Amino acid sequence: MKEFLLLFLLATEASSKSHGSWCEPGCDCRGDLKFTICSRALFTQLPGRVPPSTELLDLSDNQIALVPERSFSMIRRLRVLLLQNNNISVVEDGSFSQLEFLQRLDLSWNRISSLSEGFSLGLGFLRELQLAHNHLTTLDSKSFFHLDGLQRLNLTSNAIHTIQTRSFGAMSALRQLHLEDNRLTSLRGGTFSMLRSLEVLNLKGNRISQTEEGVFKPLTSLALLNLVHNKLITINFKTFLSIHTYSTHILLEGNPWHCDCDLQRVFRKLRSIQRLFLDDYYNLSCEAPPILQNYRLMDVDTELCIAETVTVLIITITVVITVLAAMVMGERKRKKKKSGKHWTQQGDVSDESEHN
Ligand SMILES: *[C@@H]1O[C@H](CO)[C@@H](O)[C@H](O)[C@H]1NC(C)=O
Ligand SMILES: *[C@@H]1O[C@H](CO)[C@@H](O)[C@H](O)[C@H]1NC(C)=O
Ligand SMILES: *[C@@H]1O[C@H](CO)[C@@H](O)[C@H](O)[C@H]1NC(C)=O
Repeated sequence: MKEFLLLFLLATEASSKSHGSWCEPGCDCRGDLKFTICSRALFTQLPGRVPPSTELLDLSDNQIALVPERSFSMIRRLRVLLLQNNNISVVEDGSFSQLEFLQRLDLSWNRISSLSEGFSLGLGFLRELQLAHNHLTTLDSKSFFHLDGLQRLNLTSNAIHTIQTRSFGAMSALRQLHLEDNRLTSLRGGTFSMLRSLEVLNLKGNRISQTEEGVFKPLTSLALLNLVHNKLITINFKTFLSIHTYSTHILLEGNPWHCDCDLQRVFRKLRSIQRLFLDDYYNLSCEAPPILQNYRLMDVDTELCIAETVTVLIITITVVITVLAAMVMGERKRKKKKSGKHWTQQGDVSDESEHN
C-alpha cells in the first residue's frame, strides 16, 4: 500500500513537472490537467497558458475586462468556464465559438451591457448560462440565437426593460428562466412563445403592471410562475386561464392590489380552477382603496361585493315589484274587458270597459 502511494506521488510529481510549462503562474492545474483553477489571481486578462486537456477553467474573482474573439481555441475540451466576478464589459463576437462541448458558462457579476448575435456563436451544447448582476438593458432578438440546447438562463439583477419578441426564440429546451430584479413593466404577447419546456419563470421584483392575454399560453410545461413584488393592481382572468398545464403554482404577493368586487370575482374564479395553485393567496394585501390599505384581500373579499350585491338586490326587488304591479293591473284590466265583452255580447252597451 505504502509503495503504491509513493508510486502515485512520484507519478503526480512527474506529470505536474512535465506539464508545468502549460500552467500559468497563479493557476493551479490538477486532476490530470483537467482542472485549471486561476481564481483570485489578480489577472487583468485571460491567461495565455492553459493545459489543452482542461475541462474546467475557473477564472472567477479576477479583473479581466475583455474576452477577445476566439479566446479559447486551444482548450476545446472545455465543459465548464467560470468567469464570474470580473470586470468584463466586452465579449467580442465569436469569443466562445470554438467551445463546442461547453455546458456551463458563468459570466455573472460583470459589466456586460449588451449581447450581440456573435456572443452565442458555437454554443449549441451549452446547458447553463449565468448572466446575473450585469448591466443588460435590452434583450435583442439575436442575443441568444445559437443557444438551442440551453436549459437554464439566469438574468437576475440586470436592468432589463425591453425583451424583443424573438429573444428566446431558439430555446425550446429551456427549463428555467430567471428574470428576477429587472425593470420590466409589461409582458407582451409573443415574448415566451417558443418556451414549451419552461418549468420555472421567475419575474419577481420587476415593475410589471400589464400582461397581455395570451402571454403565458405557450408555456405548456410551466410549474412555477413567480410574479411577486411587481406593480399589478388587478389581473386579467383570461391571462391565467390560458395556462394549459397539469399544475402550475402562481405567486402574486407584494403587488399593490386594488381591492374591489371585480378583483374578488377574478380571484374566486381563479381559485376554482383545479390546475392552478395560488399558493400565497392568503398573503395578498390591498393597496387601494385607501380605506382598505394593508388589509389582506382574504379578510375583506367576502365584503367587497356586498355593496354591489345590495344595489343589485334593490334593483331586482324594484323590478320584481314593478312587474308584479303591472301584471296585477293587466289582470284587472283583462277581467274588466272580459266583463265588458259580456255586455257587448248581450248587445246593450258597447265599449264600456274602454271608458272605465
Ligand atoms: C473595470 O473596467 C473599467 C472600464 O470598463 C475601468 O474604468 C475600471 O478601472 C476597471 N476596474 C478594475 C478594478 O480593473
Ligand atoms: C442566479 O444568479 C444569482 C446571482 O448570482 C444566484 O444567487 C442564484 O442562485 C442564481 N439562480 C439560479 C437558479 O441559478
Ligand atoms: C406568507 O407570509 C409569511 C410572512 O411574511 C411567510 O412566512 C409565508 O411563507 C408566506 N406564505 C406564502 C405561501 O408565501
